[in-house]
Amino acid sequence: MTVQNIAVLGAGTVGAQVLRLINEHRDDLQARSGAQLNVSAVLVRDVNAKRDWDVDPNLLTTDAQAAIDGADIVIELIGGIEPAFTYVKRALKNGSTVITGNKALLAQHGPKLYELAAQNDTDLYYEAAVAGAVPIVYGLRESLAGDRVNRMIGIVNGTTNFILDQMATTGASYEEALKEAQDLGYAEADPTADVEGLDAAAKCAIMASLAFHSRVTMEDVEVEGITSITAEDMEEAAKQGMVIKLLAIAERRVDIEGVEGIGVQVYPALVPTTHPLATVSGAFNAVVLENESAGRLMFYGQGAGGAPTASAVLSDLVAGASHRVRGGHAPRESRYAELPILDPGSAQTRFQVRIRVREAAGVLEEVAGIFARHGVSLLAVQQNKAKDGQDVQIVLATHTTRDSDLQAVIDALGKSKSVLAIESSLRVEGDD
Ligand code: NDP
Ligand code: HSE
Repeated sequence: MTVQNIAVLGAGTVGAQVLRLINEHRDDLQARSGAQLNVSAVLVRDVNAKRDWDVDPNLLTTDAQAAIDGADIVIELIGGIEPAFTYVKRALKNGSTVITGNKALLAQHGPKLYELAAQNDTDLYYEAAVAGAVPIVYGLRESLAGDRVNRMIGIVNGTTNFILDQMATTGASYEEALKEAQDLGYAEADPTADVEGLDAAAKCAIMASLAFHSRVTMEDVEVEGITSITAEDMEEAAKQGMVIKLLAIAERRVDIEGVEGIGVQVYPALVPTTHPLATVSGAFNAVVLENESAGRLMFYGQGAGGAPTASAVLSDLVAGASHRVRGGHAPRESRYAELPILDPGSAQTRFQVRIRVREAAGVLEEVAGIFARHGVSLLAVQQNKAKDGQDVQIVLATHTTRDSDLQAVIDALGKSKSVLAIESSLRVEGDD
C-alpha cells in the first residue's frame, strides 16, 4: 500500500477525535482508501500542555512548516483566519490534499483556496465546515450535482439553537440560556460569532456557493443574530403555536428589476410547530433543500462536537487518500452560473410585528393605516391589554411582503406619537 503522510494541524475538540479515530479504525480506513495512513505530525501551540488523550509525544510539534512540508495530506483544525490561511496556502502550493473544518476561513478566502488547489492539481475538502456530522457539503456538491436547488433553509448553528430551545422549553432568559450553553461547552467563552449569527452566515455562504454554482462570501450574507430575542418573544410565539429559530436562508429569486440572483440571509424567525425545522432541538442542525427534481430533502444530525465533526473529517480523509493513490479528484469549485447577490430588501417574507400603543380612540386605525400606506397587507391583528395593565399591545401579522416595505413600516411606526414601543419584528417562515 502506498503510504500517505498526514499532518493534523490542531489537536483540540475535533483534532483529538480525528487522531483517536484514525488510530482505532486504521485498518478499515486503509481498506476503504487503499492507502496506508501514517500520521506524521500533530501541530499544537503548546507541546507540553496536559492532554487527556493518547498521542505519541514525538508527533507533537510547533514547527508548522516542517509538519506541512512533510505531509501528503494536511488536516487543518486550528480554526480562525490566521495562521490557518497561511498554512492551508502552503499545503496547497506543495500539492498536498487539504481537509479543513474551518468555515470562517472558507467563507472569507474560499475562492483563493479553490484556485490554489486547481493550480496545484490537488484537492480541498471541507465536509466538516458546515453542520458538523451532517453530510450537507457532499449532498450539495455531489448528490445534487444534476439537480437545480431553488431554496435552502437551515438551522446550522448548534449553540444558538440550544439557547433558543432552552428559552422556549424552560422559560429561561437569553442571558440564562447563554450561560448554560457556555457551562455545557457548546458556546465559546466569547460566543460572539455564534450569537451574532456570523458562524451561521459563514456556513450559509459556503452552502449557497455550492447550491447555486456561484461565488458567495460572508460579506454577501445579511446577518441578524439572536441577542435581542426575549423571554416575552418566546412566550408570544408559543401562544400562537410557533417557536423561534435562527435560520440560514439562501434562495434563487427575481428582484424588483427582474434580475435573477441569490438572496442570502441569516435571521431569527417564527416557525410554526408543524414545520420540520421546529422539531430540531438542542444543539442539533438541520437543512431543508427545495430542489426542482428531487423535491424537498431534509438533512439532520449533530452539527458540532468532537466525534461527530471528526466523522466528517474522516470521510474527507478516505476520499482524499483514495484519490491520491487511485487517481481522480474531488469536484472543483463550480461557479459557472455567476448569479448576482440580490439586495436583501427584495426578499419576500411574512412578518409579525408586536407594538405597544397608547390606549386611545383611533390608534388602531392609525397603525393599520401605516401598514396600508406602505403597501403591506395585514393577515391578522390581535389587541391585548399590556401585562402591566396600562397601554395596549397590538400584534400585527402581515401577508408576504418585501423586506424593504416592512422596514419602511417600522420606520413610520417609530415616528408615530401613538406607538410607545416596537417590542419585536420577526419574520415568519412558512407559506402565506
Ligand atoms: P479547539 O480550539 O478545540 O482546538 C484548536 C487546536 O488548534 C488546539 O489543539 C490548539 O493548540 C491548536 N492551535 C490553535 N492555534 C494554533 C496555532 N497558532 N498554531 C498551532 N496550533 C494552534 O478548536 P476545535 O477543535 O473546536 O475546532 C477546530 C476547527 O473545527 C475550527 O475551524 C472549527 O470552526 C471547526 N469545527 C469545530 C466544531 C466543534 O464542534 N468544535 C464543529 C465543526 C467545525 P493547543 O492544543 O496547544 O492549544
Ligand atoms: N459553534 C458552532 C455551533 C460549532 O455552535 O454550531 C460548529 O460549527
